[in-house]
Amino acid sequence: MKDMLWGSATAAYQCEGAWNEDGKGASIWDEFCHSDKNETGITGDISCDFYHHYKEDIRMMAECGQNTFRFSISWSRIIPKEDGVVNEAGLAFYDNILDECEKYGIIPNVTLIHYDLPDYIGAKGGWCYPGVADAFAYYCKVCFEHFGNRIPLYVTINEPNHNAYCNYCVGNYPPNETNLQHYARCCYNMACCTAKAIREFRKLHLTSKIGFVQGCGPATSLLDTPEYRQAVKYCNYFCRDPFLDPAILGYYNPEMLEEIQKKGIDLSFMKQEDLDIMKENTIDFLGQNIYSRMLVKPNTSGITAFVVNNKGNNDGTGNTRRESRAISGWFEFDRDPNTVLNKWGREIYPQCAYTTLMETSRRYHNIEIYVTENGHGMYETCDENGYVEDDERIEFLSNYLYWILKAKEDGANVKGYYVWSTMDLYSWINGYKKRYGLVHVDYEDKQLKRTPKKSYYWYQEFIKNHS
Ligand code: BG6
Repeated sequence: MKDMLWGSATAAYQCEGAWNEDGKGASIWDEFCHSDKNETGITGDISCDFYHHYKEDIRMMAECGQNTFRFSISWSRIIPKEDGVVNEAGLAFYDNILDECEKYGIIPNVTLIHYDLPDYIGAKGGWCYPGVADAFAYYCKVCFEHFGNRIPLYVTINEPNHNAYCNYCVGNYPPNETNLQHYARCCYNMACCTAKAIREFRKLHLTSKIGFVQGCGPATSLLDTPEYRQAVKYCNYFCRDPFLDPAILGYYNPEMLEEIQKKGIDLSFMKQEDLDIMKENTIDFLGQNIYSRMLVKPNTSGITAFVVNNKGNNDGTGNTRRESRAISGWFEFDRDPNTVLNKWGREIYPQCAYTTLMETSRRYHNIEIYVTENGHGMYETCDENGYVEDDERIEFLSNYLYWILKAKEDGANVKGYYVWSTMDLYSWINGYKKRYGLVHVDYEDKQLKRTPKKSYYWYQEFIKNHS
């Protein structure tokens, strides 16, 4: 499979540590984790300290046979303050990572923001700040000019849908609000961010490509009745269309905008000049994260509510409350009695990889797709050597990969696959107990010792057999 990249993924706040080293400014996650709002007191201040261990981590990736690495750049490492002055040490850190990747022939797939807005943007209203897209485009321009073609695959934003959802619906991510008006504003501003960043990107005529990463697949339902089809449509209005339509097609569906307004959301923040920029600046590829499916039914309860797996459920007990979301009159989550949930209440359903890739390809003109994340969170114990036998993860990954490769075979334009995550790292509100890595990190050890897990060797074999 020559046209397929095989790798794994991380994100700056989750793995770098060094939160205030070498001139880095604070991000909204530094601010949140250091505040009283952080109920667990757990932070990403050190995490697995990728900042000082990147050579070892990239070498281990290469030894596993991985030929691509997805990581993100911390905006506040590059532009620490509101004055816009560029921090050369920040650029140098990412130059070093790129050097290391080049040394092993690993292709970098780099996300410009993965949740960690600079705190100075947060103080002005974060993703709802009207100036966020211009500030983001400026930061991206600095990156494009500096890194240029050394980064062949750029991603503007990681999971605008999930980020906006956690920030403004559930309220478990900073700024911890529950406000659908702000959710709508945030989604729109994120679409403007992507379009304005692409406008800067195109000016440089790089050979690199640019995309964004979507966090969930299209909605689906157990029944096929007019009411269920309607629920599916509304869930897509909430989770998919406001993100993929402007980024890929360059416009919003007018019927969706009308329905949103009927829900009482004021869309007067939408400006013709922004819409013109979106129309002219669409993405080259889609990054698609695949974990679970959006299974919905008509909303009969009349309730609007959002429950995430990780709020109040990070104590290691594995409470399996179902993850769910509901919008009065639109849709609510359904439960398939024939499937299992993971320890955080998220459904495990490998076939969703196939439907996601096939349906997305159909709707969006067979766009090039990278599966930018796929992984399984687990509570783990290691032996005295740090070795973890994570058979459950191997089963999860191989089942999902079966459906991903089947979608590729059946015509989806899938170009790459990334396991989440390269090594154990900070799992947002779940802290460090929920592990995803192919490589175990001993957080008790001063050197943060790395040990490949059984899944690492399984992946090594898998790549060998598929290259
Ligand atoms: C994705 C994010 O949504 O899921 C990652 O892009 C995240 O940053 C991953 O870590 C797993 O989610 P969680 O909350 O279990 O860490």
